[in-house]
Order: sequence, then C-alpha cells, then structure tokens
Amino acid sequence: MIYRRCGKSGILLPAISLGLWHNFGSVDVFDNFIKIAHTAFDNGITHFDLANNYGPVYGSAEENFGQILKKGLGKYRDELIISSKAGYDMWPGPYGNWGSRKYLTASLDQSLKRMSLDYVDIFYSHRPDPKTPIEETMGALADIVRQGKALYVGISNYNDEQAKAAIDILEEHKVHCLIHQPKYSMFERWVEPKLLPLLADEGVGVIAFSPLAQGLLTNKYLNGIPENSRAAKLTGFLQRSQVTEEIIAKVHKLNDLALKRGQTLAEMALAWLLKDDRVTSVLIGASSVEQLLDNLKALNNLQFSDKELSTIEKILH
Ligand SMILES: NC(=O)c1ccc[n+]([C@@H]2O[C@H](COP(=O)([O-])OP(=O)(O)OC[C@H]3O[C@@H](n4cnc5c(N)ncnc54)[C@H](OP(=O)(O)O)[C@@H]3O)[C@@H](O)[C@H]2O)c1
Repeated sequence: MIYRRCGKSGILLPAISLGLWHNFGSVDVFDNFIKIAHTAFDNGITHFDLANNYGPVYGSAEENFGQILKKGLGKYRDELIISSKAGYDMWPGPYGNWGSRKYLTASLDQSLKRMSLDYVDIFYSHRPDPKTPIEETMGALADIVRQGKALYVGISNYNDEQAKAAIDILEEHKVHCLIHQPKYSMFERWVEPKLLPLLADEGVGVIAFSPLAQGLLTNKYLNGIPENSRAAKLTGFLQRSQVTEEIIAKVHKLNDLALKRGQTLAEMALAWLLKDDRVTSVLIGASSVEQLLDNLKALNNLQFSDKELSTIEKILH
C-alpha cells in the first residue's frame, strides 16, 4: 500500500480506501463482506468509510461493521481509520436529516452504538444544508471533537464556496478540517476548476468517492448489464438508463487504452485519479474480493505519458 498525507495533518491515509455504502447491508451476505473487509486490511487498506444510513436497511452497514470488528478486526483498532457521516435522510421527523446540531450529535451517538465504538476517527457533515446556518453545523462538529467522539472532522459534497466557509469557521473553533469527500472520477470532474486548488491551499485532504462511477468505469458493462450488478439492482443509485450507448462507447475506448497500458479499466480509472497528489485517497466500493484485488493493482502503475493523458481527454470530451 502507498500511504499519503491527508492535507496538512498528521494522518496518513491509504491511497485506496474501502467504502461500505453498498454490499455491507442487511440484504448482503456476511461471509462475503467480512472477507472483503479482511482482504482490504491484509493489503494495507487501513481506512473504512461508513455513514449512518448505509445499508440497506439504514444503519445496517454500521451494525455489520461492528460485527466485523467484534469478530477480530477490532483487535487492530489503533491501526484503523473509521469514518462515519450524517447529513442525509436517517430517521423520521424534523431531526433526522440535514445539518442541525441536534441531528449531527444524536446521529453520531447512534453510529457509535451500532459499531460498538467509543469514537470514530473522522466524522463528516455529509452534505451542506442550505437552511441551517453553517456556524451551527461546524460548531457541532467542533464540539464533537472536543467531546472526543471523533478525532477529526470532514465535509462532503460541499462546493468551493461552502467548503471555504466551513474550513474558516472550523479554524475559528481551532479545529482543522481534515478532509473533503467529493464525487470525483473520469466521468465526474466538477472538483477540478475550483475545489481541488482551494483544498490544496487550505491543507485539506481529498478522498474521491465513486471513483469508478459506481462500476461504469470498469469492464463490467462492456457487453450489457449483468445480473447482480448495481445497475441491475433496483436501488436507484445507478439506473439502467445511465448505462447509455454513448457512455459505453467511451468505456470501450478507455478499456482499449487500459489494456495497452497492461491494466484493467478499473485499475486505470483509479490510477488516473491518483496521478494527482492532491488526491489523498480513492474511496472504492467492491462487491467481491476479486474486484478489490483488481483495484489494488492500480497502485502498480500510476504514471501516464502525455500522449495517454491527451487520448483520455479526447475520449472523455
Ligand atoms: N459522501 C457521499 O455522499 C458518498 C456518496 C457515494 C459514495 N460514497 C462513498 O464512496 C464509496 C464508494 O462508492 P461507490 O461504491 O459508488 O464506488 P465505485 O468504486 O465507483 O463503485 C463500486 C462498484 O463498482 C463495481 N466494481 C468495483 N470494482 C470493480 C472491478 N474491479 N471490476 C468490475 N466492477 C467493479 C462494483 O459494482 P457491482 O456491485 O455492480 O459489482 C462496486 O460495487 C462508498 O462506499 C461510500 O463510502 C460517499
């Protein structure tokens, strides 16, 4: 594993981290996901990313991760960086969503219980809340650090202006924003013009979520939509309608280039993000040990020639 410093903090994160959004819920198979988690850790993936509502059902990924810790991984607690988040829909009524102090505080308490942890390493505001003063949301994060329930805090899905405001308010509380978690992949590049330069200036780390565009940037959909793939399941997060002819034509071209580089497309898509050292880590999902092992091989070649980079730009535009 390669470890990269997270912004201007003392924390090193693995270049590849594992997310438990899908494949670790109550609808999934315990034997499969405990193997994925152990294989990840055995290969140096020290960072596991969760959120209150990962599942389905909501909360079940955290409960299952609690079981994984209990069955052995927890012996290595001091070798792990475990994150959770609150910001999206979690429980009924007005206090189970968005960015109030009430929601963030109660949600983290619930997450700690589900995972049987005393603290998480990173706690995130999962998305900006246009209606709650940002001072309230960041004040809650700062207090959570003071209470020892999270060692560090981060933000996710904040644009550059929202991120700048959040970072500054946390600094007023003498808490450094450790990390930003935006969606970033070859197919999703909104972070490039403003957010990445801002975070580099502010010394905030970056962990890119859905770096494989939920599986589109792999060889999975080259010949249609396989059964059991995310697009075939009815979760609604990757819909069949998103697997368009236009996208798959690009995926074919990217796949050809990856093969020329001696990589799978998944490996190349991750390497393409990691070529930028402002990206601390790529946050992958995996539904099998094989996928995870494939993705880890991305680290064998993070170099791109100028010609390869311009070919990629041509394919993507
Ligand atoms: N902060 C946020 O708002 C937010 C939002 C979304 C995600 N996240 C975080 O980011 C993590 C990753 O998100 P993601 O699951 O969308 O990431 P992703 O890595 O883009 O997609 C993962 C999916 O791609 C497929 N896949 C992975 N490796 C493959 C390989 N080598 N070959 C073929 N297919 C492969 C699998 O799909 P199949 O299941 O079809 O096999 C896998 O479930 C989440 O778990 C979560 O921690 C955060």
